Amino acid sequence: MRSNDLIHFCPPGRLILGCGTRHQLPALVQRMGWRTGLLVTDRFFAEHTPWVRDYVSAASALGIHTEVYDGGMADPSTTLCDEATQAMRLRFAGRLPDHVVALGGGSNIDLAKALCLTLPTGRPVRDFVGDIGSLVPLPMVAIPTTSGTGSEATPGAILVDPENATKVAVMDNRLRPQIALIDPELSYTCPPRVTADAGIDAFTHAVESWLTMDSWAFDRAGHPDPGYSGRSSLTMLFARESTRLCIAWMERAYQNGQDQDARIGMAYASIYAGLSYGSAGLNAVHGAAYAVAGITHKSHGSTNAVMLPYVLDALRDTRRDELLEMGRMLGLGDGSAEAVLDAVPQRVRDMVGRLGIPTNLRDFGIAESDLPALTRDALAVTRLAKAFPVPDVEAAYDRIVRNAFHGVLSGG
Ligand SMILES: NC(=O)c1ccc[n+]([C@@H]2O[C@H](COP(=O)([O-])OP(=O)(O)OC[C@H]3O[C@@H](n4cnc5c(N)ncnc54)[C@H](O)[C@@H]3O)[C@@H](O)[C@H]2O)c1
Repeated sequence: MRSNDLIHFCPPGRLILGCGTRHQLPALVQRMGWRTGLLVTDRFFAEHTPWVRDYVSAASALGIHTEVYDGGMADPSTTLCDEATQAMRLRFAGRLPDHVVALGGGSNIDLAKALCLTLPTGRPVRDFVGDIGSLVPLPMVAIPTTSGTGSEATPGAILVDPENATKVAVMDNRLRPQIALIDPELSYTCPPRVTADAGIDAFTHAVESWLTMDSWAFDRAGHPDPGYSGRSSLTMLFARESTRLCIAWMERAYQNGQDQDARIGMAYASIYAGLSYGSAGLNAVHGAAYAVAGITHKSHGSTNAVMLPYVLDALRDTRRDELLEMGRMLGLGDGSAEAVLDAVPQRVRDMVGRLGIPTNLRDFGIAESDLPALTRDALAVTRLAKAFPVPDVEAAYDRIVRNAFHGVLSGG
């Protein structure tokens, strides 16, 4: 317990986790009273796995009609969402679905979340960026196939805006899935690169939300139902456990995708991280990562990974106890406190390197001349910058970006 906590915890409506649980879904959808669904996925799942066919026919046997949209793509854009909206409204010919099922990584889940908003009205998704207004989105089931984003537990959909090459967020607690169904078996086909990028994304969510602004200091701007509201004793339970699970299983899942214990461990790590950051929120790693992605167009997980060690280093004064606890999880218990605080960012950077991800911004494809714009763009994501728990956020971001470029950590 922390007596100052102001808990505003928003999990998905139901959370189901276990090997083989995907087979329960048709009966559950029937019990929810839903009868006409849209399943949003991509061609990999529609053409190279039996999961889509199996679901559609098992649901049909229970009287649930499902249309399949298999045009999902990595990092979906607002244009893709608008095209899918029009195509699916034509397909349903005026009779709208009463639920949406998302099958895939964070990209398909985010596209499906956006479609829950746009299908009922046919309006472009850009109309909902910043505020979804009074519209009630269609209810949704999210079935993640990567262990990474935790989007099945969060209030947001992240889409690329092709007009200015940045990512925009459609965000509201009403967009959280009614059902998050996590069947670790669905992640067994993830190739190593996707496993690594998604895994480090989960690790970043866990650590960043563990160390973020406290709930009592978080600026909710008077919102009665904030999507993110700072860390609390409740979010920190999930953050700690997720951090521990990622340290135990992330590299094993990357090295051997057939390691079922590692796959299951990362399925838990990913949703626990989602339950932490999905209410606590994030800060500097994601703020800088969005700016890095704007320049390099590299994967979400890898842009987080390259920033993470340098952000941890910047928190050694304000999040000392948590970093020492993380040091113990990393097996660094024996040295002096200062030695452990030096070693934690280095250990994390070594881990990033072993996942095949560059460990500084220069190797990541950023030019030194990009740094001022990168810092400016990172600071411009104010919802993240305002949650970074240091006294001078602007100076800290500037130092973090320069250190990340040159590969400089306080411990050497
Ligand atoms: N809404 C949120 O809260 C949130 C949070 C973090 C990230 N995101 C978004 O999520 C996206 C990244 O998601 P991701 O890391 O899950 O990857 P992804 O969904 O972009 O998938 C990457 C690739 O892996 C493939 N893939 C996924 N699962 C597979 C499986 N089991 N077997 C084989 N191939 C598989 C996909 O088909 C795709 O080609 C980014 O667009 C990011 O912005 C959203």
